[in-house]
Amino acid sequence: MKALFHFVFVLLAVSWAVESCPPMDRDALLEIKAELHEQYLGIFNSWTGADCCHNWYGVSCDPETRQVADINLRGESEDPIFERAKRTGYMTGTISPEICKLTRLSSLIIADWKGITGPIPSCITTLPFLRILDLIGNRLSGPIPGDIGRLRRLTVLNVADNQITGRIPPSITNLSSLMHLDLRNNKFYGPLPRDFGRLGMLSRALLSGNQISGTIPSSISQIYRLADLDLSVNSLSGTIPDSLGKMAVLATLNLDSNKITGMIPASLMNSAVSNLNLSRNALDGQIPDAFGPRSYFTVLDLSHNNLRGPIPKSISSASFIGHLDLSYNHLCGRIPSGSPFDHLEGSQFANNDCLCGKPLRDC
Ligand SMILES: *[C@@H]1O[C@H](CO)[C@@H](O)[C@H](O)[C@H]1NC(C)=O
Ligand SMILES: *[C@@H]1O[C@H](CO)[C@@H](O)[C@H](O)[C@H]1NC(C)=O
Repeated sequence: MKALFHFVFVLLAVSWAVESCPPMDRDALLEIKAELHEQYLGIFNSWTGADCCHNWYGVSCDPETRQVADINLRGESEDPIFERAKRTGYMTGTISPEICKLTRLSSLIIADWKGITGPIPSCITTLPFLRILDLIGNRLSGPIPGDIGRLRRLTVLNVADNQITGRIPPSITNLSSLMHLDLRNNKFYGPLPRDFGRLGMLSRALLSGNQISGTIPSSISQIYRLADLDLSVNSLSGTIPDSLGKMAVLATLNLDSNKITGMIPASLMNSAVSNLNLSRNALDGQIPDAFGPRSYFTVLDLSHNNLRGPIPKSISSASFIGHLDLSYNHLCGRIPSGSPFDHLEGSQFANNDCLCGKPLRDC
């Protein structure tokens, strides 16, 4: 009997240890909950009781250490809680620095809640296991912590669609695991770090819709895996590095709506890039006569620049050109014919100096 009692006691003790989160983690979560307000879905109603590792909405724990490993709170998702409420999420409040007491945190996703304000807690850079930081779609302000580069395991840094200000911290280029960087639609200003190309694992770099100035660092072309580079709608000046056209997998290059000058590098006309938008800059010179069978463009938008001279004949040898826009330049001469030019409209060539031939007037 005594043995049985002992056995039951041990069993209870073990199951308690397995099931419950550490009281320190639970306390930190309750502090976080206290600073956030969400009234339509009631997700924080589940953040109650001793065991934060089970049935606390959006919280999960590391199976080995039992510490909180993931916070995943998305204001737009397929979760039934949203279907029942027939609406997307809305949350106000701030992200408590208590979050930094969750020392095993691997992913922090507090995304698309629209109303969360205040800064990104600067202590976030002390979380050594952080892999994913996704705070897209809130109203966060203040800078990115200057020592962000300490997060050596970080693979995703997404703070798009907020009101983050300040320079892009130079230490960011120390994020040697970073694969996905999304800083779109914030208030970043100042230059890109010259050694941006040290981000060797990066596959997407999306920085459009800020006030980033200075020139495009040519080191970017060293990023072998980079497939998607969006620097559009900023204040970048200087020329386009020729090396961008020699990148192995770069497929999307959006530099539109900046203050870029100089000529279009010939390498870009015959590269892996298939989505090229250079619209609304101050590019001059001629469109390089460097198209070939490797040229495959779903988008080729060179509109609103100062391009001169003829449309190069080699453009007819491109294997595909989907959306072409050469309007608002100073081009002159006969519009080439050929298969990529079977479905053209006058508006694509409008407002040039003296273009002629189909689909415009005869030469
Ligand atoms: C990047 O990391 C190295 C090595 O830890 C460090 O010496 C350097 O100061 C860091 N760079 C920046 C800009 O923080
Ligand atoms: C290219 O960029 C311009 C200016 O930012 C934009 O208006 C245009 O829609 C873009 N072109 C395409 C095809 O997306």
